[in-house]
Amino acid sequence: MKIYKTNFPGCKKNELVSELKRFSKIFKDRPIKNNKGGMRFEHMFATYFILKKVRPPVVIESGVFKGQSTWLIEKTLPKSKIISIDIDLKQRKYISKNAKYSNLDFKYHDFSNLPSNSLVFFDDHVSHMERIQQAKFFNIKNIILEDNYRSYKGDFYTLNHALKSSGFNHKLGKLSLFKTFFLFFKEFLKKLLFSQYYFSIDILKSRIRDVKPQKNDRNNLINIIDIYFEFPSVRKIISKKMNIPLGELKSYNYITYLRLL
Ligand SMILES: C[S@@+](CC[C@H](N)C(=O)[O-])C[C@H]1O[C@@H](n2cnc3c(N)ncnc32)[C@H](O)[C@@H]1O
Repeated sequence: MKIYKTNFPGCKKNELVSELKRFSKIFKDRPIKNNKGGMRFEHMFATYFILKKVRPPVVIESGVFKGQSTWLIEKTLPKSKIISIDIDLKQRKYISKNAKYSNLDFKYHDFSNLPSNSLVFFDDHVSHMERIQQAKFFNIKNIILEDNYRSYKGDFYTLNHALKSSGFNHKLGKLSLFKTFFLFFKEFLKKLLFSQYYFSIDILKSRIRDVKPQKNDRNNLINIIDIYFEFPSVRKIISKKMNIPLGELKSYNYITYLRLL
C-alpha cells in the first residue's frame, strides 16, 4: 500500500491552489445551499479534484441524500455515466436528468461488466470494510470514501478504524435505542405473522453498526490497496475573496481516495 499524504499521486501543489480557485466559483451554483447532514465545501472540493484526476467513465454514488454529490459528479464529469443509489430516495431535493437512480443497496447490483476505470463514491455510512470488499468483488478499482473518521470518532466503521484495529462501538442515545428496538420488533413481528416474509437484516445493521476490534482487517486491506490518499484539509489556503460561508468549513473528516490492486 503506497500512502500519499499531501497531494494526489503525480500532482503538483500549485495545481491544488489553482483548482481550488476554479472550484470556489463552481461551488456558488450548488443546488443545496444548506446541506446539513451532507457534503460541505472541503469534501466537495476533494471529490471534484479526485474525479478530475481519475476521469472515470462510470461513477457509482452510494448515499445521495438531498442530491448535492450527484450535482457535483455531474458538474465535474458531464460525459460520465452516473448511477446514484440511496435506500431512501425521497430525501432528494436536486434530481439529475443524467443520473440513473436506484434504491437497491450497492451489493445487490450487477456491476460485473463496468469499464475498467470506473469509480465508486461511498457516502452511505455503511462499514468501509464491507464496502471495500464489495468493490473488490465487482473489480471496481477506484474508490472515494467520503468520511474516514479517526479511531473512536464518527458513526460507522471506517477504513481508519480498520487500519488502526480499533473496531467501532456505536453509541446509541435513548431515542435511537428505542427506534432500533421498535424496528427490530416490527421486523420480528412480520416474520412471525407472514410465512413468506424476509427479515431485513440490512435495516438492523444500519442501526447497530458495531464492529469488534478485528486483528486481520488491517492486513487484509493492505494486501488489496495499491494507493491510499487522504485528501488534505484546504482550509488554510482558502482566501477571503472566495467568500465561502464559515459553516461550510466545519466538517473535514479525512476524505480518502483508494486505488485497489
Ligand atoms: C451523509 S448522507 C449522503 C450525503 C450526500 N452524498 C451529499 O452530498 O450531501 C448519507 C445517505 O446515505 C443513505 N444510506 C443509508 N444507508 C444506505 C445504503 N445501504 N445504501 C445507500 N444509501 C444509504 C441515507 O439515506 C442518506 O441519504
